[in-house]
Amino acid sequence: MLLVMSQRPRNPYRPGVGQRPAVLAGRDTELRRFDATLRAAPEIPANVRVEGLRGVGKSVLLAEFQERARQSDWATSLLEFEPRHNTDTAILAVVGSLADTAVRDMSVAARARHALGRVAGALRAVGFEIGEVTARFDPTLALPGQVELAVRLLAAVNAALAAGKHGYILLLDEAQVLHDETERDGEHPLSLLIAAVAAIQKTGAPIGLVLCGLPSLATNLLRARTYTERMFRGERVESLDRAGAEYAFVGPLAGMGIAATPALVDQVLNTVEGYPYFIQLWGAELWEAARDAGTTEFTVELLTAIGPEIYRRLDIDFYDPRVEALRPAEQDLLLSAATCPYPPLVVADLQGATDKSAANVNVLLGRMANAGVIYRLRKGQYAYTAPGFADYLRRRAERVRRT
Ligand SMILES: Nc1ncnc2c1ncn2[C@@H]1O[C@H](COP(=O)(O)OP(=O)(O)OP(=O)(O)O)[C@@H](O)[C@H]1O
Ligand SMILES: [Mg+2]
Repeated sequence: MLLVMSQRPRNPYRPGVGQRPAVLAGRDTELRRFDATLRAAPEIPANVRVEGLRGVGKSVLLAEFQERARQSDWATSLLEFEPRHNTDTAILAVVGSLADTAVRDMSVAARARHALGRVAGALRAVGFEIGEVTARFDPTLALPGQVELAVRLLAAVNAALAAGKHGYILLLDEAQVLHDETERDGEHPLSLLIAAVAAIQKTGAPIGLVLCGLPSLATNLLRARTYTERMFRGERVESLDRAGAEYAFVGPLAGMGIAATPALVDQVLNTVEGYPYFIQLWGAELWEAARDAGTTEFTVELLTAIGPEIYRRLDIDFYDPRVEALRPAEQDLLLSAATCPYPPLVVADLQGATDKSAANVNVLLGRMANAGVIYRLRKGQYAYTAPGFADYLRRRAERVRRT
């Protein structure tokens, strides 16, 4: 019996954060566009802004971009920002050290090429001197740290060229955590990063910047002190269309000795609304249930039996951590929001649903936006960053009422 169990293939679904799925469904257009962006660089700088909701597949796509860039002979660095990186000092430290590491790695690679005697003729003329970029800054205009960051990034570009690459691409995930303060003498980490990269690009040096994050990233860029309009090509990562979702759900079963009935596939696709994380979760849970039931078929009956368990896991894994990271007053406000019509979340409705003052509601909404739980659509209107969040809040409110 044990032997039989261990021979059964491993669960092919990957519900999680940034986990590469067994099949990468429905992203051909995005990948083609990224390849084209690489080909057009550095004449047209490879700057892309990737944005989308939670669990829609941004990090997976970003990793795929990195892979494409590598295959096309670009040096790359990938980093996921954390909230603590949202200061001038932190951004300089973390992106600076990313560049330093790239330099070290590539110098090792370049030395290896030397050792193999393959380097002759492979070294391209490196026309960008660190001094040159410094000279282009008006030090009175540059943000503190900007010149240093540019110098360190430029070193990575030069190292990439010396290693025989086309240039250097920085891929930065969770970039919505960066936002500039409005005061002149406040923190401007986003501008610091952008200005350093833009300064290098002005010299024609091949550096690219891919910023990936929640929809608030676009707003943060618009509000950044540094001029960023038209610097980025926008790439909106959407939920998968029906065909893509079906491939994402059924594709991992190929060659696994498990089949899904058409009725089950239909029901799952209607429920998950094309969101990749949900597809992976539903698939993973069905897989386990089929194994436990000793069946080789995903059926509607199986799904009905485990439905409550799937939602329990969805709440625990996907939604609860986002809410529990908030302060109690913010959590309170979310429970009031559960009673409001959605979408969108209208601030006036929320004010009617809570006994908090209007000023307090605004402060709390601002904090929740900074925490990445909601984002501002327009004046007086917000949306949740996680798909299905409004339904979840109603479940949560129900749970709270019962306890
Ligand atoms: N194109 C795809 N096809 C199938 N599954 C996918 C696809 N893209 C992502 N997934 C799956 O969806 C889940 C979420 O992916 P990912 O972590 O990239 O989302 P995200 O947008 O970065 O989410 P977050 O905003 O929480 O960081 C993972 O389980 C991943 O395996
Ligand atoms: Mg992600």
